[in-house]
Amino acid sequence: MTPWWQTTSIYQVYPRSFQDSNADGVGDLPGIINRLDHLKELGVETVWVSPFFASPQQDFGYDVTDYEAVAPEYGTLEDAQRLIDEVHSRGMKVMFDLVLNHTSDQHPWFLRSRSSRSNPKADWYIWADGRGKHGKRPPNNWKSAMEFTSAWQYCPTRRQWYMATFLPFQPDLNWRNPEVKRAMFDTVRFWLDKGVDGFRLDIFGQIMKDPDFANNPVRPRVYNGFPRLTERIHTENTADNVTLAKELRAVCEEYPGDRALLGEVFGPPEVLKSYLGEDDGLNLVFLFEFLTFHYNAEWFRTTIQGFEDNFPAPMQPTYVLENHDRSRLLDRVHGDVAKAGVLAVILLTLRGVPTVYQGQEIGMSNTRLPFKDALDPIAASVYKHLPQFFVDRMSERLNRDEVRTPMQWDASANAGFCPDGVQPWLPVNPDYERVNVAHQESDNDSLLNLYRRLFALRRDSESLRSGPLAMLEALPDGVLGYRRADLIVLANMGIEPVTVKYSGRSLVEAGEVAVGMGRVSLFPDSAVVLQTVVPKLA
Ligand code: GLC
Ligand code: CA
Repeated sequence: MTPWWQTTSIYQVYPRSFQDSNADGVGDLPGIINRLDHLKELGVETVWVSPFFASPQQDFGYDVTDYEAVAPEYGTLEDAQRLIDEVHSRGMKVMFDLVLNHTSDQHPWFLRSRSSRSNPKADWYIWADGRGKHGKRPPNNWKSAMEFTSAWQYCPTRRQWYMATFLPFQPDLNWRNPEVKRAMFDTVRFWLDKGVDGFRLDIFGQIMKDPDFANNPVRPRVYNGFPRLTERIHTENTADNVTLAKELRAVCEEYPGDRALLGEVFGPPEVLKSYLGEDDGLNLVFLFEFLTFHYNAEWFRTTIQGFEDNFPAPMQPTYVLENHDRSRLLDRVHGDVAKAGVLAVILLTLRGVPTVYQGQEIGMSNTRLPFKDALDPIAASVYKHLPQFFVDRMSERLNRDEVRTPMQWDASANAGFCPDGVQPWLPVNPDYERVNVAHQESDNDSLLNLYRRLFALRRDSESLRSGPLAMLEALPDGVLGYRRADLIVLANMGIEPVTVKYSGRSLVEAGEVAVGMGRVSLFPDSAVVLQTVVPKLA
């Protein structure tokens, strides 16, 4: 039988912004539970919940102080168990989010570790002596994920440096210490015992570094739109990291049923693929290309074909248009909802595992917020001196608050996220009176109802779930088209109306489409899923 994760669809919940249940302006686990029916009705099959573990929330949960406890503002361990059970009772799967690379600098392990060179946790993090006469220069040239700052932070008490790949308050665990590995694997088992179906693995590619701390080669260039100074060969996607993927898979295999690991890893396809092993490593890896799509048929054709070539069945590509770190897709198409509809059709009809970030299904936009008030630690610490006009011109969101504002449920005050009179932790996007779940539910032509139709089709269609994908050739300029077994998907991403010769029955449409007499006419920014007619043999 095909394991569930090969054909699933994933919905990302960002707990702080999904639903507040106790009127403190912060989303929480009971709030998520209260809104699970929205996900059920939407038709997603797996719910991925961003971290809600004990944390000082400097990086809003991606800085953990206890992996086996729930941050009080989000609820209790009982709530977490109830969340798992309530998701299951609706026939969905649930994945939690594991931050294995680093903890918070307030984690008791780190407080201990940094207190001396000889304490029992001394070797639980990555420590090294500095260079220079007094060791006041970082141990080597390794850069943080921000790329301009060193990955090393000085600790006067130990007169040594600790490594922090992400931000200074997120010290990297030393996974070469067997005690660390054991403790972390036990955490994984702790949640598997409670019944979670899998994990999204935060910056998984960075965990195992070169044990000899060799310098990374210096090679300045632009990589994925961001400047890079060094080639991260000793700090990212090392061979030992792939081994770790397999060890983690083995932990999951101790459990009945299929549990799934979805890695946040970055790199060229060969590297990403190496994490899957022979289906004995991670089950899935994120492919992030769609986060920076160019809205044109040729770009999608090439990108999708690339994924098809690199991840042939039984491997599954994954498709991500939005998440809690990057711009909302609507802002990438200048607020054009018709284009968002076309993208929804593409996302949910490709072979592989699509992901949807909360609010994407109703067309939420980035919320413009003054940069100087940012709560996001990247904006508030790394880029804090950038002037607003400069930030406004960046194509990427440097302030992740802008994509993390509360989910918009209805047109009441605070969009139904928290009660009237309560201040939500981030302001609600002013467009909420129009862009909200309740309003779109009642409008048959809304983006929400399009997503529902597409999810329903995916769920019931073997062709979409497991059929091969073949690009259609010789289509007019601006048109993307592919076949999934007996279905054909056509999307007009160009600026002219087009007519192509295909006969069949229209199953789902976005925008203006006419199907009949052996032809399909598509206005700009429209798309259709067509059930082709199979000629009956006499
Ligand atoms: C990942 C998360 C991001 C977080 C970072 C550090 O990139 O998606 O939100 O800040 O890791 O854990
Ligand atoms: Ca709350």
